[in-house]
Amino acid sequence: MALTRLRGFQDLIGPDARAVGFVEQCARTVAERYSISEIRIPLLERLELYQRSSGETSDVVEKQMYAFADRDDAQTTLALRPEGTPGVVRAYIDAGLDRSDPEQRFYYYGPMFRRERPQKGRFRQFNQFGVEIFGRADAACDADLIIMVDEFRRELGLEVEFQVNSLGDATCRPAFRQALLEWGRAHLDQLCEDCHARLERNPLRLLDCKTDVKLAATAPSSADYLCDPCRKHIETVEELLTKANVPYVVNPRLVRGLDYYTRTTFEAISNAVGAQSAVVAGGRYDGLVEALGGAAVAGTGFAIGVERIALALDADRFKRDGAPDAAIIAMGDRATVTAMDLARELRTARLRVEMLSPERGLKALLRRADRLGAHFALIIGDNELAQSVVQVRDLRNSAQQSLPRADIAMHLRAALIR
Ligand code: HAM
Repeated sequence: MALTRLRGFQDLIGPDARAVGFVEQCARTVAERYSISEIRIPLLERLELYQRSSGETSDVVEKQMYAFADRDDAQTTLALRPEGTPGVVRAYIDAGLDRSDPEQRFYYYGPMFRRERPQKGRFRQFNQFGVEIFGRADAACDADLIIMVDEFRRELGLEVEFQVNSLGDATCRPAFRQALLEWGRAHLDQLCEDCHARLERNPLRLLDCKTDVKLAATAPSSADYLCDPCRKHIETVEELLTKANVPYVVNPRLVRGLDYYTRTTFEAISNAVGAQSAVVAGGRYDGLVEALGGAAVAGTGFAIGVERIALALDADRFKRDGAPDAAIIAMGDRATVTAMDLARELRTARLRVEMLSPERGLKALLRRADRLGAHFALIIGDNELAQSVVQVRDLRNSAQQSLPRADIAMHLRAALIR
């Protein structure tokens, strides 16, 4: 059998890896500005953690887990993490922070695994950059997170539409759930097969039906069932977003695919990634810390789909970004020694330098330098060695000049700054 990569898994090579790295770096920069500190958690956890948080009836847990028995302990099923939130909550409780110092702000970056049907923007391994805030129950915290995502997407030059909703809390959600259940039973013959399964187990997911969007649009809306404190909470979020000039739409059908949400939920939608248009998603999960054995501490957060964002960015930019400032061409062994010396000096001067293989002719090497997108080709042969000079060829306009070896770094820096 050919040892090819698995379906839904990606090799990110060159510009593709750079695009993902760029999104990560940009998210880190913005998160640091919000005084959020990094948390690194394992890729592997007990399956039960996800069953008790993401939800046993969620598609993620029901259909998409990479789970397997632990060889050391047959009672334990392990799972590759499909999302970061449960692991961060577990780590927070494990460290005793829920009791000793509950107000915490974390960000994380890394791969997640979901056995989904692969398509453009949907992978079985993908990276999330997530933020989780604990100990803040106020609406300003939710608004601040959305404002942070807006700052992040503006920095990338990406257009998105923010959709927000409130799913209510333990006080008002049961009535909404009951209304959906009754609506579902009344429309049983029109519901798709998946919705039949969802109806009794997780009626909120009826709103998420992609098979009959028109029918789902006639279902009860959470907004009509919110209790006063939940209504006040979402109104404050909306008010603060308006004041911060973050445009958003209210989408009363935004239920999210994970079970832990209470009150505010939101997504950032981009039309640059095809059907998989949610590039960032999150919301409040006030009961989750307690449900996982911790204190009653509020939680709220979001996760950025890093590959989806990268897909939405201009790919050409990352091809150019990787190009060397200079490609050095050494003709012969003696020239190679000098060339390596020059490369070291230029790198110390913070230039990006690639030494080309000495095994080809000058013409082929110049073609290669051009293909790499190098700004300059620096050519050193016997003549240049004898005169202590280097041929400096500007590949953007093919102008070539002979310059003293000692002036190269200064010349290149000056030319590149221009
Ligand atoms: P999620 O909506 O499941 O939420 O995922 C967040 C984002 O991850 C999605 O909007 C999407 O951009 C990206 N994503 C999800 N699945 C895939 C996939 N198969 N391929 C590529 N990208 C994908 C969560 O995971 C929550 N933990 C977010 C959160 C944090 N809520 C509160 N705190």
